[in-house]
Amino acid sequence: MERLIVALDVDSGARARALAAWLRGVAGGYKVGSRLFTAEGPSIVRTLVDDGHRVFLDLKFHDIPRTVADAVAAATGLGVWMIDVHASGGAAMMHAAKAAAVDRAARDGRTPPLVVAVTVLTSLTAEALAALGVSRGPRDQVVHLARLAAQAGLDGVVASPEETAAVRAACRHDFAIVTPGIRGGAATAGPDDQARTATAGAALAAGADYVVVGRPILAAPDPRAAAETIARELAAVAPPAGGAARGDRRPILTLFTRRTCRLCDEMKAVVREVTASVPARLEEVDVDADAALAARYGRDVPVLWLDGREIARHRVTAESLRAHLEEASAGRQVP
Ligand code: C5P
Repeated sequence: MERLIVALDVDSGARARALAAWLRGVAGGYKVGSRLFTAEGPSIVRTLVDDGHRVFLDLKFHDIPRTVADAVAAATGLGVWMIDVHASGGAAMMHAAKAAAVDRAARDGRTPPLVVAVTVLTSLTAEALAALGVSRGPRDQVVHLARLAAQAGLDGVVASPEETAAVRAACRHDFAIVTPGIRGGAATAGPDDQARTATAGAALAAGADYVVVGRPILAAPDPRAAAETIARELAAVAPPAGGAARGDRRPILTLFTRRTCRLCDEMKAVVREVTASVPARLEEVDVDADAALAARYGRDVPVLWLDGREIARHRVTAESLRAHLEEASAGRQVP
């Protein structure tokens, strides 16, 4: 589901990559925030981009215009799809951020990332905002900052579900609204720091273009099943607007494996033999990188997926793999 962005708020690149592979075909993009970026650095962003994923780099830049512009240019150079800055950095800072993204993308010959502004954090209550000295309530403040961001030429805002409808009414229809704070409905999670929340379906119905979901997926016993339930809730409100943009159109083989595993080595050999003549991309995922993934597939490795759908476990023959790949390339599915 193109509109579902999964927040990869985990502490290792290996786990982030395993989750991204596991959620392939369900998530429309992945958010790399300060936790993962601080632990792994830009290499995890490059890896996810190279794996064919859309990456929202959520570092919420907030600094003087020159510094933010340089940071946005560097992020653009990583090939990310979306970047955010804090609207409270001011109009000049937001303008500089957008200009830097456009300039750097033109120099690199790539599509510029969406540059969106964080308005009021979804964890802030009206009281917390007042304590910061902001006299407007959250909704009015979010709409005010969204207007400022639109005037500065940004592509959209990050806003909670409680303000989504007001922003949609105040800004032009192609101004993107990215909505975290998804709770309830299909997104089950224990009590936490999110204050201004709604279900994924309600956020979309209010006018959000993308919803960002972290813990309700990451902390679920089966993150893929949790993401699928949320994707279904979203699809009931608004069908996907089109596939995620990806340059490489080859079918993607995902091999769930582990370090010492004879059957895995055998399957890899078959995959290598077949992909030498039939185009496909292979991504290998160590199931032990994520506890839920290990619980799901630990006893069954190797498991082989083609474009997010399981096609084999334990063994695969070259003939059957070749047939699956040829059918996938032709845009059909083997029954
Ligand atoms: O786990 P949860 O679903 O709350 O994840 C929401 C994600 O969205 C977190 O990574 C958080 O940093 C991010 N975010 C947010 N509120 C904002 C901007 C970003 O919750 N205003």
